[in-house]
Amino acid sequence: MQPILSVSGLKAYYQMRYFGVAREIRAVDDITLHINRDEIYGIAGESSSGKSTLIKTIARAIRPPLNVVGGSIAFDFEAGPRDLYALSEEQLSAIRWRHLSYIMQGSMNVLNPVRRIRHSFVDFAFRHMGLPMPAFLQRVEDHLAHLSLQPGILESFPHELSGGMRQRVTIALATVCRPDFIIADEPTTALDVVVQKNVLGMIRRLQQEMGASVLFVTHDMAVHANLCDRLGIMYAGRLVEEAPTRALFQRPLHPYTAHLIRSLPRIGDDTPRHGLEGRPPSLAAPPPGCRFHPRCPLAMDICKREVPPMEELESGHRVACHAALQGIAP
Ligand SMILES: Nc1ncnc2c1ncn2[C@@H]1O[C@H](COP(=O)(O)OP(=O)(O)OP(=O)(O)O)[C@@H](O)[C@H]1O
Ligand code: SF4
Ligand SMILES: [Mg+2]
Repeated sequence: MQPILSVSGLKAYYQMRYFGVAREIRAVDDITLHINRDEIYGIAGESSSGKSTLIKTIARAIRPPLNVVGGSIAFDFEAGPRDLYALSEEQLSAIRWRHLSYIMQGSMNVLNPVRRIRHSFVDFAFRHMGLPMPAFLQRVEDHLAHLSLQPGILESFPHELSGGMRQRVTIALATVCRPDFIIADEPTTALDVVVQKNVLGMIRRLQQEMGASVLFVTHDMAVHANLCDRLGIMYAGRLVEEAPTRALFQRPLHPYTAHLIRSLPRIGDDTPRHGLEGRPPSLAAPPPGCRFHPRCPLAMDICKREVPPMEELESGHRVACHAALQGIAP
């Protein structure tokens, strides 16, 4: 079956100019991936690895200084794959919310602080539903009830709700039109563990009921382990490994992924966790070759010179690492 999203050789850079000097931050640098219908695909990686930049670009929610400088993004919603960046503004707004919805990092802020929640639903979703206002509001109330949210919430102002409640309202808003593709950037990071579990359960349930695809970003590997069907690992603007979640956790092939998994706390295991030496590189002047080489315990000479190609070493398991290509386990 055709994937619903195909990203090919994508490059998205922040291009700035200070006092006449150009500066470029290569936050997304040559990423290729596809996402299938009806799957939850997770993106992991530490802070500043480019996760938000990647999904902002995939949602075509970018503005200067961020520019797409190469590659393509195609969604296949109805009539075959279409290049997202070739669509007119009008075509794009017909897709937004109806087919593609995007829960931004810190997205509880999409709720207008000085207006009641009801207005946010009307502003975002009304025109996509093709229903008269009373029927639309009924549909919204039914959707809220389905998500165990009281309809009275529509008359609240955002500041009257707890953080967890606001996040659930945001997810209700993003799903009320039953989109085919939902992008969510760190939607649970600011929540405590119990509320987080609740919100993740809600996302999983909605995804199953609607048969939607979800692109889910978090730096929290434990959340990925519980939620995602497949995972892509980003390091310094590049995708370094991708596999079905279980395979990735059972047998990571990239040293960086192995480190992320090893650093997860395990109940009953008191052995000390060793951090990685060094810090992630500056994306304005990333190291040549493999960007992970200054921190990698397996680094070889070739790693300093040549960018490792992304290769499928096992079925559905891709990795970009010279050592992995030689069969060396991390
Ligand atoms: N508006 C901006 N202008 C310039 N550089 C930016 C801008 N936004 C992000 N960057 C840079 O792009 C790189 C990637 O940032 P991004 O926000 O995509 O990372 P992230 O993986 O989402 O991090 P986090 O886990 O902290 O959310 C970082 O080096 C960041 O400093
Ligand atoms: S390519 Fe080399 S430096 Fe990069 S992760 Fe693999 S072994 Fe380490
Ligand atoms: Mg981010």
